[in-house]
Amino acid sequence: MRYNSHEYVNDYLAYGTFPKIHDDIFFMAKRVPEAGELNAIDLGACTGLLTIRMSSVFKSVTGIESSEDYARKLQGARIIVFKITPETVLEFGAVIAGYDIIIARRIFPELYDAKQVVYFLPEVFYKAGIKYILLEGRKRVKRPTNPLWNADLEAQEFSKYYTVSDFYKDIRLLKRKA
Ligand SMILES: C[S@@+](CC[C@H](N)C(=O)[O-])C[C@H]1O[C@@H](n2cnc3c(N)ncnc32)[C@H](O)[C@@H]1O
Repeated sequence: MRYNSHEYVNDYLAYGTFPKIHDDIFFMAKRVPEAGELNAIDLGACTGLLTIRMSSVFKSVTGIESSEDYARKLQGARIIVFKITPETVLEFGAVIAGYDIIIARRIFPELYDAKQVVYFLPEVFYKAGIKYILLEGRKRVKRPTNPLWNADLEAQEFSKYYTVSDFYKDIRLLKRKA
Protein backbone atom coordinates (compact mmCIF):
# COMPACT_ATOMS: atom_id res chain seq x y z
CA MET A 1 0.00 0.00 0.00
CA ARG A 2 1.21 3.51 -0.72
CA TYR A 3 1.52 6.20 1.98
CA ASN A 4 -1.63 7.93 0.63
CA SER A 5 -3.78 4.77 0.41
CA HIS A 6 -7.50 5.13 1.09
CA GLU A 7 -7.31 1.93 3.10
CA TYR A 8 -5.17 3.60 5.76
CA VAL A 9 -7.73 6.36 6.14
CA ASN A 10 -10.62 3.87 6.12
CA ASP A 11 -8.96 1.67 8.77
CA TYR A 12 -8.40 4.71 10.97
CA LEU A 13 -12.02 5.85 10.60
CA ALA A 14 -13.45 2.35 11.14
CA TYR A 15 -11.13 0.97 13.83
CA GLY A 16 -8.97 3.86 15.06
CA THR A 17 -5.81 2.08 13.88
CA PHE A 18 -2.74 3.72 12.36
CA PRO A 19 -0.57 2.45 9.46
CA LYS A 20 2.31 0.18 10.48
CA ILE A 21 4.57 2.14 8.08
CA HIS A 22 4.59 4.88 10.74
CA ASP A 23 5.50 2.60 13.69
CA ASP A 24 9.28 3.20 13.57
CA ILE A 25 9.12 6.99 13.57
CA PHE A 26 6.40 6.92 16.24
CA PHE A 27 8.66 4.74 18.40
CA MET A 28 11.51 7.23 17.97
CA ALA A 29 9.29 10.24 18.65
CA LYS A 30 8.77 8.89 22.16
CA ARG A 31 12.57 9.01 22.68
CA VAL A 32 12.84 12.74 21.89
CA PRO A 33 13.87 14.54 25.11
CA GLU A 34 10.93 16.35 26.76
CA ALA A 35 8.75 15.63 23.72
CA GLY A 36 5.60 16.62 25.60
CA GLU A 37 6.83 20.20 25.77
CA LEU A 38 7.61 20.54 22.05
CA ASN A 39 5.46 22.01 19.28
CA ALA A 40 5.94 19.98 16.12
CA ILE A 41 5.59 20.44 12.37
CA ASP A 42 4.77 17.33 10.34
CA LEU A 43 6.31 18.10 6.97
CA GLY A 44 4.55 16.53 3.97
CA ALA A 45 1.66 15.49 6.18
CA CYS A 46 -0.39 13.85 3.42
CA THR A 47 -3.77 12.78 4.88
CA GLY A 48 -2.68 13.66 8.41
CA LEU A 49 -2.62 10.18 9.95
CA LEU A 50 0.92 10.67 11.26
CA THR A 51 0.00 14.21 12.35
CA ILE A 52 -2.84 12.84 14.47
CA ARG A 53 -0.78 9.97 15.87
CA MET A 54 2.11 12.23 16.82
CA SER A 55 -0.30 14.45 18.77
CA SER A 56 -0.18 11.90 21.58
CA VAL A 57 3.58 12.49 21.95
CA PHE A 58 4.15 16.20 21.33
CA LYS A 59 2.48 19.26 22.86
CA SER A 60 1.02 20.15 19.44
CA VAL A 61 1.46 18.94 15.86
CA THR A 62 0.72 20.99 12.75
CA GLY A 63 0.96 19.44 9.29
CA ILE A 64 2.28 21.14 6.16
CA GLU A 65 1.05 19.61 2.91
CA SER A 66 1.01 20.81 -0.70
CA SER A 67 -2.00 18.77 -1.80
CA GLU A 68 -5.34 20.21 -0.75
CA ASP A 69 -6.97 16.86 -1.63
CA TYR A 70 -4.82 14.92 0.84
CA ALA A 71 -4.94 17.58 3.54
CA ARG A 72 -8.73 17.70 3.65
CA LYS A 73 -9.32 13.94 3.85
CA LEU A 74 -9.45 13.72 7.64
CA GLN A 75 -10.98 15.97 10.22
CA GLY A 76 -8.98 16.20 13.42
CA ALA A 77 -5.58 16.94 11.91
CA ARG A 78 -4.49 20.58 11.79
CA ILE A 79 -2.90 20.87 8.36
CA ILE A 80 -1.75 23.99 6.56
CA VAL A 81 -1.90 23.65 2.78
CA PHE A 82 1.42 25.07 1.62
CA LYS A 83 3.73 24.13 -1.27
CA ILE A 84 7.41 24.55 -0.42
CA THR A 85 9.37 25.81 -3.42
CA PRO A 86 12.42 28.06 -3.83
CA GLU A 87 9.96 30.91 -4.36
CA THR A 88 7.96 30.23 -1.15
CA VAL A 89 10.76 29.01 1.12
CA LEU A 90 11.24 32.33 2.96
CA GLU A 91 7.51 32.52 3.69
CA PHE A 92 7.74 28.90 4.83
CA GLY A 93 10.44 29.96 7.31
CA ALA A 94 7.99 32.45 8.81
CA VAL A 95 5.26 29.76 9.04
CA ILE A 96 7.48 27.42 11.09
CA ALA A 97 9.04 30.11 13.31
CA GLY A 98 8.35 29.36 16.97
CA TYR A 99 7.98 25.60 16.45
CA ASP A 100 10.50 23.24 18.09
CA ILE A 101 10.75 20.10 16.00
CA ILE A 102 10.29 19.08 12.38
CA ILE A 103 8.93 15.59 11.70
CA ALA A 104 10.07 14.68 8.20
CA ARG A 105 9.05 11.21 7.08
CA ARG A 106 10.12 10.55 3.49
CA ILE A 107 9.77 14.20 2.45
CA PHE A 108 13.32 15.55 1.95
CA PRO A 109 13.91 13.52 -1.26
CA GLU A 110 10.63 14.96 -2.58
CA LEU A 111 11.85 18.43 -1.70
CA TYR A 112 14.95 17.71 -3.76
CA ASP A 113 12.60 16.96 -6.66
CA ALA A 114 10.85 20.31 -5.98
CA LYS A 115 13.54 22.35 -7.72
CA GLN A 116 16.07 21.28 -5.07
CA VAL A 117 14.43 23.46 -2.41
CA VAL A 118 15.69 20.99 0.21
CA TYR A 119 19.10 22.66 0.04
CA PHE A 120 17.65 25.87 1.54
CA LEU A 121 16.15 24.08 4.52
CA PRO A 122 19.10 23.67 6.94
CA GLU A 123 19.51 27.45 7.21
CA VAL A 124 15.75 28.08 7.15
CA PHE A 125 15.20 25.62 10.02
CA TYR A 126 18.11 27.03 11.99
CA LYS A 127 16.98 30.63 11.59
CA ALA A 128 13.39 29.66 12.51
CA GLY A 129 14.71 28.33 15.84
CA ILE A 130 14.00 24.65 15.18
CA LYS A 131 15.66 22.52 17.90
CA TYR A 132 15.20 19.00 16.50
CA ILE A 133 14.59 17.26 13.19
CA LEU A 134 13.13 13.74 13.33
CA LEU A 135 13.55 12.26 9.86
CA GLU A 136 12.82 8.92 8.26
CA GLY A 137 14.67 8.16 5.05
CA ARG A 138 13.68 5.97 2.15
CA LYS A 139 14.35 2.23 2.20
CA ARG A 140 17.77 1.53 0.72
CA VAL A 141 17.66 0.18 -2.83
CA LYS A 142 20.36 -1.03 -5.23
CA ARG A 143 19.86 1.66 -7.87
CA PRO A 144 18.71 4.85 -6.16
CA THR A 145 17.44 7.71 -8.32
CA ASN A 146 17.49 10.52 -5.75
CA PRO A 147 20.68 12.01 -4.22
CA LEU A 148 19.02 11.90 -0.76
CA TRP A 149 18.28 8.20 -1.06
CA ASN A 150 18.92 7.18 2.53
CA ALA A 151 18.59 8.60 6.04
CA ASP A 152 22.32 9.18 6.53
CA LEU A 153 22.57 11.31 3.38
CA GLU A 154 19.56 13.33 4.56
CA ALA A 155 21.20 13.84 7.97
CA GLN A 156 24.45 14.89 6.31
CA GLU A 157 22.62 17.59 4.40
CA PHE A 158 21.76 19.27 7.72
CA SER A 159 25.16 18.74 9.34
CA LYS A 160 26.23 22.39 9.27
CA TYR A 161 23.54 23.23 11.85
CA TYR A 162 22.33 19.86 13.24
CA THR A 163 24.05 16.76 14.57
CA VAL A 164 22.69 13.19 14.86
CA SER A 165 21.77 12.55 18.50
CA ASP A 166 19.82 9.28 18.20
CA PHE A 167 19.02 6.71 15.52
CA TYR A 168 16.99 3.57 14.85
CA LYS A 169 16.61 1.75 11.51
CA ASP A 170 15.91 4.47 8.89
CA ILE A 171 15.16 7.14 11.51
CA ARG A 172 17.59 9.85 12.61
CA LEU A 173 17.04 12.39 15.36
CA LEU A 174 19.04 15.55 14.68
CA LYS A 175 19.73 18.09 17.41
CA ARG A 176 20.53 21.73 16.82
CA LYS A 177 24.16 22.68 17.35
CA ALA A 178 24.61 25.34 20.01
C1 LIG B 1 6.23 10.39 0.43
S1 LIG B 1 4.89 11.35 1.05
C2 LIG B 1 5.09 11.10 2.78
C3 LIG B 1 3.81 11.37 3.54
C4 LIG B 1 3.90 11.22 5.06
N1 LIG B 1 4.98 12.03 5.62
C5 LIG B 1 4.06 9.77 5.43
O1 LIG B 1 5.18 9.38 5.73
O2 LIG B 1 3.08 9.03 5.43
C6 LIG B 1 5.36 13.05 0.80
C7 LIG B 1 4.26 14.05 1.04
O3 LIG B 1 4.80 15.36 0.87
C8 LIG B 1 3.95 16.15 0.07
N2 LIG B 1 4.79 17.11 -0.67
C9 LIG B 1 5.55 16.83 -1.76
N3 LIG B 1 6.17 17.95 -2.18
C10 LIG B 1 5.79 18.96 -1.33
C11 LIG B 1 6.10 20.36 -1.27
N4 LIG B 1 6.89 20.90 -2.18
N5 LIG B 1 5.56 21.09 -0.28
C12 LIG B 1 4.74 20.52 0.65
N6 LIG B 1 4.40 19.19 0.62
C13 LIG B 1 4.92 18.42 -0.36
C14 LIG B 1 3.25 15.14 -0.86
O4 LIG B 1 2.00 15.64 -1.36
C15 LIG B 1 3.09 13.94 0.07
O5 LIG B 1 1.88 13.96 0.78
